Amino acid sequence: MGTIYAIANQKGGVGKTTTAVNVAACIAEAGYPTLLVDIDPQANATVGLGLPKDGTPNAYDVLAGDATAEEAIRASAVEGLSVLPSHPDLAGASVELPRAPGSENLLRDALAAAKQRFAFTILDCPPSLGPLTVNALVAADRVIVPVQTEYFALEGLAGLLDTLSLIRRELNPRLTVAGMLLTMHDGRTRLARDVEQEVRKHFPALVFDTVIPRNVRIGEAPSYGVPVIHHDPHCLGSDAYFELAKEVAARG
Ligand SMILES: Nc1ncnc2c1ncn2[C@@H]1O[C@H](COP(=O)(O)OP(=O)(O)OP(=O)(O)O)[C@@H](O)[C@H]1O
Ligand SMILES: [Mg+2]
Repeated sequence: MGTIYAIANQKGGVGKTTTAVNVAACIAEAGYPTLLVDIDPQANATVGLGLPKDGTPNAYDVLAGDATAEEAIRASAVEGLSVLPSHPDLAGASVELPRAPGSENLLRDALAAAKQRFAFTILDCPPSLGPLTVNALVAADRVIVPVQTEYFALEGLAGLLDTLSLIRRELNPRLTVAGMLLTMHDGRTRLARDVEQEVRKHFPALVFDTVIPRNVRIGEAPSYGVPVIHHDPHCLGSDAYFELAKEVAARG
């Protein structure tokens, strides 16, 4: 039985997709069969792993019941890493999903077979707490919350944790927070150090020791359709995501 991780934060641009793609790649590289599921209509994770964003069947077809996850899952250029790609149509699912009773469970049910086959499944969520993210949080065992090391970092985190508690109570008692991840950290600035201290103080024991630095190579990699560990295996960004993957595995 594999473990499913949702990468979630309703705030946009905090490093969810970058973390989903790179943690998935590091885990696959370590030899575990890994699946990345892109349920963000922006399809950034899909494109970041070199797949087209308009392929079929895709995550929309799976949620609509027109394809099984097994049919939609593709191989990626990273050995051991498979992808269930997104599609811009998924934007419509946010409107269509709530109309169907039990629609929060669609992704969980669709991934039941994949959970047997993949040791790790990583879900890249859109920047909202809408029906797609709720589906991810119902399907997930753990959630990783990327937090950009900038002013306003704490804003919205309390609300997110409330939502997680609600989902645990009403829909998915298994769900736990694997950790908060400080991203895009610029160690040269006082602000980044202050924000890191502040987040660690507010959420003791919840923040991963590993901090992801702001790193040009991380930002470049998606334009080549590869994770950073393939773009530049020895840069600081690759080191950090490998460390994070180890910490995620160790937290169990
Ligand atoms: N550690 C980093 N160093 C440099 N650039 C980064 C880093 N992490 C992310 N980025 C860049 O910052 C931007 C936002 O990151 P990303 O797409 O991962 O955020 P997101 O939370 O998935 O955004 P959205 O909410 O729109 O889905 C991207 O251009 C990405 O390449
Ligand atoms: Mg994203």
